[in-house]
Amino acid sequence: MIRNGHAELAPERDGSRRTVRVWCDGCYDMVHYGHSNQLRQARAMGDYLIVGVHTDEEISRHKGPPVFTQEERYKMVRAIKWVDEIVPGAPYVTTLDTLDKYNCDFCVHGNDITLTVDGKDTYEEVKQAGRYRECQRTQGVSTTDLVGRMLLMTKTHHTVDPRGHSPWTGVSQFLQTSQKIMQFASGKEPAPGDTIIYVAGAFDLFHIGHIDFLDKVHSLAPKPYVIVGLHFDQEVNHYKRKNYPIMNIHERTLSVLACRYVSEVVIGAPYSVTADLLDHFKVDLVCHGKTEVLPDRDGSDPYAEPKSRGIFQTINSENNLTTDDIVQRIIKNRLEYEARNQKKEAKELAVFEAQQRRGKILEEQHN
Ligand code: CTP
Ligand code: C5P
Repeated sequence: MIRNGHAELAPERDGSRRTVRVWCDGCYDMVHYGHSNQLRQARAMGDYLIVGVHTDEEISRHKGPPVFTQEERYKMVRAIKWVDEIVPGAPYVTTLDTLDKYNCDFCVHGNDITLTVDGKDTYEEVKQAGRYRECQRTQGVSTTDLVGRMLLMTKTHHTVDPRGHSPWTGVSQFLQTSQKIMQFASGKEPAPGDTIIYVAGAFDLFHIGHIDFLDKVHSLAPKPYVIVGLHFDQEVNHYKRKNYPIMNIHERTLSVLACRYVSEVVIGAPYSVTADLLDHFKVDLVCHGKTEVLPDRDGSDPYAEPKSRGIFQTINSENNLTTDDIVQRIIKNRLEYEARNQKKEAKELAVFEAQQRRGKILEEQHN
């Protein structure tokens, strides 16, 4: 029950504890492991997580045009393993009416500020009612930062920068820890009767093409155990060139682990699927999508071994999106995105400075 605007973990009449329903909302544009980590923390604060995702129109009005369409963003959020339900087209400002409509006890947001187009805190009402909780924002990643990395990449291959860019320029300073991997991992070993399916790739900027592919792979068996082999950054850079991957191996690990269709990740998988690897993981099936399979450095087919064992299958994800397409979208709308980023930062800075000033005044009054 919710009394006086406060969520309580009230017992039911039969003594059992009532389900705590948690609400999160946001743009969830270019969903990354920062978003997944927020949803993981929010889910741990209750028993059932509902995520409201804003429409393109709302985001354009308050923040600037999103990179992904609403349908794409809904699909991305739905694929995160801690999400129980999504609400498409949730309002930008979170109200008590919304929390009540979906029977949620409280809402959870990262410890950063979200402002409307008029500079108002979008969580003011729920904060005042005591139905707001905060989780730790993940340092080192944001949509704004990812857009920046892509824009940086576009600059490096159109002009020759006198300072000379390393191919890793723009790769985030996110620091991976064993704790974070444990939090994201399923922690489950394959059970007897599971079909062990292995897929490999870059899975850079983990997107809906990857999700559609993994969804199809996952539905191949009644009890699937999907292992994703991630190629190291140097390997990806070798075959993708330019400044790829946009996300480093640590970031790609978390993005893939957050997906509900994935059971395990190999961090730094060999480019060719070897006999050792197949035997070690007792792999029943190896899959690849419809995208081109480039030969290994010695010209051999990386899937020769699973093919010779008769356990290789090509999967049609029915989705043509690639990491390059995402980068192209950003390049096309470069000026709009740059303006959007500058606006967001300026708005946040103004609020931050106002908060500092308010804090100083209060301190002076207190002394
Ligand atoms: N979030 C987080 N860590 C990040 C990025 C986002 O915890 N590195 C959280 C936000 O605090 C919010 C939720 O994810 O609770 C949804 O964020 P969203 O509305 O998509 O936008 P932003 O917070 O602006 O994130 P970004 O800058 O990545 O667009
Ligand atoms: O390109 P990348 O290495 O990230 O792809 C990983 C896997 O996802 C590959 O098997 C690829 O064919 C598949 N994929 C797909 N449909 C897409 C994008 C990738 O099936 N749109």
